[in-house]
Amino acid sequence: MAWKKLGAADIPVGQGREFVVDGIVIAVFHLDDAWLAVDGMCAHQGGPLAQGHVDNHCVTCPWHGWQYDLRTGQNLLTGKKMLNTFPIEQRDGELWIDVPV
Ligand code: FES
Repeated sequence: MAWKKLGAADIPVGQGREFVVDGIVIAVFHLDDAWLAVDGMCAHQGGPLAQGHVDNHCVTCPWHGWQYDLRTGQNLLTGKKMLNTFPIEQRDGELWIDVPV
């Protein structure tokens, strides 16, 4: 794993944004109490999770409604981990993410 700078931490609270880091599509979310990052493509058919509705640490895929816990990557219906999660931090107004190398 290696820490990479994503850029300014300017995503509004309650919203997500998609990034591509070293070829990995990642969805970053700014919640009331945390920044969270998971795989950006839904495990169902690749829907853009960064565009999904976020509520209480969970995101709903905008394409067909699969839901995931952003803290664990688990699908809420099955309980199975279906998304990778990535450590993310805000440092001096910038977002940094730890991705596989
Ligand atoms: S692509 Fe996400 S629920 Fe179908």
